[in-house]
Amino acid sequence: MKSLAILGATGSVGTQTLNVIRANPGRYDVQLLGAKSNWRLLEEQVRAFRPRWAALADPAAARQLEERTGDLPLIVLAGPEALVQVLAAQGFDLVVAAMVGHAGLLPVVSAIEAGSDIALANKEVLVLAGHLITALCRQKGVRLLPLDSEHSAIFQCLRGRRARDLNRLILTASGGPFWGCSQEELALATPAQAVKHPNWKMGAKISVDSATLMNKGLEVIEASWLFQVDPDKIEVLVHRQSIVHSLVEFVDGSVLAQLGVPSMELPIQLALSWPRRWPGQDQYFVNWLDLPALTFSQPDDAAFPSLGLARAAAKRGGNGPAVLSTANDVCVANFLAGRLAFNDIPRVIGAVMAQVPWQADPDLEAILATIEKTARATQNYIESREC
Ligand SMILES: NC(=O)c1ccc[n+]([C@@H]2O[C@H](COP(=O)([O-])OP(=O)(O)OC[C@H]3O[C@@H](n4cnc5c(N)ncnc54)[C@H](OP(=O)(O)O)[C@@H]3O)[C@@H](O)[C@H]2O)c1
Repeated sequence: MKSLAILGATGSVGTQTLNVIRANPGRYDVQLLGAKSNWRLLEEQVRAFRPRWAALADPAAARQLEERTGDLPLIVLAGPEALVQVLAAQGFDLVVAAMVGHAGLLPVVSAIEAGSDIALANKEVLVLAGHLITALCRQKGVRLLPLDSEHSAIFQCLRGRRARDLNRLILTASGGPFWGCSQEELALATPAQAVKHPNWKMGAKISVDSATLMNKGLEVIEASWLFQVDPDKIEVLVHRQSIVHSLVEFVDGSVLAQLGVPSMELPIQLALSWPRRWPGQDQYFVNWLDLPALTFSQPDDAAFPSLGLARAAAKRGGNGPAVLSTANDVCVANFLAGRLAFNDIPRVIGAVMAQVPWQADPDLEAILATIEKTARATQNYIESREC
């Protein structure tokens, strides 16, 4: 059996990864489960999967888990450093990176250093430091497998093709819950509405990112690193039905697409089984006769400026995408807490991008400094009541 660690085990991707493991017994030995503070769900998971380690970033939550699991041969890791240390010391056959935002960066770096293959959902890691992560993977001979449904689709369509035959990548976007809304409606959008995605059940942060279309901007940058393609050759089409997960267009005009029901369990299972395919569960199969008409349209850059901000950050390069992603993390947290209006999210990100000094070719230390500086600048900007 292969060894597995899941970072972000209690979240949307983490719990769906465990569903896939449960449905495919005898394939993976779950050895480490990590989360931030949800010790109750982590305790249930630990009792079901019996890992050697359970990690909680919040030390008080880790103490609760330790008290509750004294009957198990479990090592409870408290605080972010303890997780990073174990990932650096212990290689796993696969690490599912499903934490959210910039918190995932150092754990993923440590896992790669230790030679663990990575199944990456936590796209912010590649946006923050794609040049470092991809170089480190090459150096350590580590496979970086995409978990995002769009990137899994492109990964499948690109297999065995020559780079020079590629014309462009086309990422599909659902458009999120506010597609078609007027500026007035967007100005009044609430967190409860923003997290109610029409097709996918996801964590709060990525749901808001889908609503602003920042998620697609982060995905353009993620795809450019994963597939080594210039961001200018990566287009976005709004496809409300989320059946076509993405497309690859070749120089002769031929297009390959990957289609499937909108369930994250499919790309998760593919990453776990790659390069093989395990039989899918009944609910993974498309009922072609029941499908709605498949439609495609241009993103509305005026109503949803975040995609344009992400393209500008990609063009800037250096620490530009790290500034974008960190400012977005902070804005989304403030929006979810009711301290920032929906329409102010891109406005604040744009202002912070103009404020934080640009740096070419940053090393890890410089990326961490950029994250710290940007988080502070974004929070100050929001609190300065300029919004
Ligand atoms: N959900 C999807 O369908 C989907 C699809 C494609 C890509 N992604 C990407 O996958 C990542 C995870 O998304 P999600 O929707 O699964 O998020 P989520 O439901 O919010 O779950 C996040 C997970 O990360 C843990 N976590 C958060 N902050 C942490 C920290 N500082 N230290 C350690 N653990 C921490 C959370 O623990 P607690 O529960 O204790 O807070 C939880 O287990 C994101 O980068 C997202 O963009 C998600």
